[in-house]
Amino acid sequence: MKFKTIEPIKGKIRILDQRQLPLKIVYKDYDDFRDIIESIKRLEIRGAPAIGIAGAFALALAARAEVKIDPERLKCLLTDVAMEIKSARPTAVNLSWAVDRALKAACLYEGDNLEELRIVIWDEAINILREDEQMCHAIGQKGAKLIKNGDTILTHCNAGALGTGGIGTALAIIYTAHNQGKRIRVYADETRPILQGARLTCWELMQAGIDTVLICDNMVGFLMKQKKIDLVIVGADRIVKNGDFANKIGTYGVAVLAEKHKVPFYTAAPSSSFDNHIASGEDIPIEERSPNEITIWNEIQIAPAGVKVYNPAFDITPAELVTAYITDKGIIPGGRCGGETVPTPPSGEFN
Ligand code: MRU
Repeated sequence: MKFKTIEPIKGKIRILDQRQLPLKIVYKDYDDFRDIIESIKRLEIRGAPAIGIAGAFALALAARAEVKIDPERLKCLLTDVAMEIKSARPTAVNLSWAVDRALKAACLYEGDNLEELRIVIWDEAINILREDEQMCHAIGQKGAKLIKNGDTILTHCNAGALGTGGIGTALAIIYTAHNQGKRIRVYADETRPILQGARLTCWELMQAGIDTVLICDNMVGFLMKQKKIDLVIVGADRIVKNGDFANKIGTYGVAVLAEKHKVPFYTAAPSSSFDNHIASGEDIPIEERSPNEITIWNEIQIAPAGVKVYNPAFDITPAELVTAYITDKGIIPGGRCGGETVPTPPSGEFN
């Protein structure tokens, strides 16, 4: 990749500001955890694994904010900060997973050396970043087996390098298949309201030299009817115990259309996106965002002032519409799996 979504540099966290893409490439360096929380809320950094990594680094920065403090007291303070970071965005489980993991590393530290404690948390954030890179790579390797030469793939939102610490999830599969020499075309949904597909997915894919076609969200059914789509691959923000999953608003509609038109529908996600504490999709918290994302475009009001708006950022796709889950551990058949669409037996499990 020619860009880094998030990386630690000289004790600061460098974040590629995704709100400005594709027009401007602007990196922001943060050394205050509160700025990273705001950066997550503003969607400068977004995508489930990426906000998890940012959250873990935010906790590591918070541990450095107190100049002189007893390690036990710092652990208590960090427990509160962790709550604050986790509430920045509620739907992707990766955020709470990563922050809790960094906090746990802190709590397991039994020494009384403040600097050592800080290093423990920082190192855990680095581990989370490196492991995410590896999980993306593994998803790419496992998922590319599902792609045939000549396939056309539909994706929704951005489940690419911009949403992770590595080469992405859904897009990792596309990059890997492309690097294997398979000729593929990708249709990218623009992804209203804030266009992660048009702005981010197209930007990433085109840099990698992948044949990319941008479509509006409401064109998917027509393309499937025209048999222009061989398979769908999307990401996930949280996959729960019964296999239901949350992803960017509009994913559910794509899944329904895919079933109607007998197009295989895959979701690609690292182990960190699986949440077995929640039984079904009905209980996944869905983030609602500002009405301005829908009513204002490029500072121009595009709907009548005062109109009522409902703006859920995610929807739930039921397990019955999923052909398979492509994970770093293997491919897990979904509710739609009749056998022929999943060439490999399940080798992974819900964690
Ligand atoms: O609101 P966003 O842009 O954070 O939503 C992102 C998605 O829905 C992605 O599909 C998902 O997080 C997978 S990222 C690899």
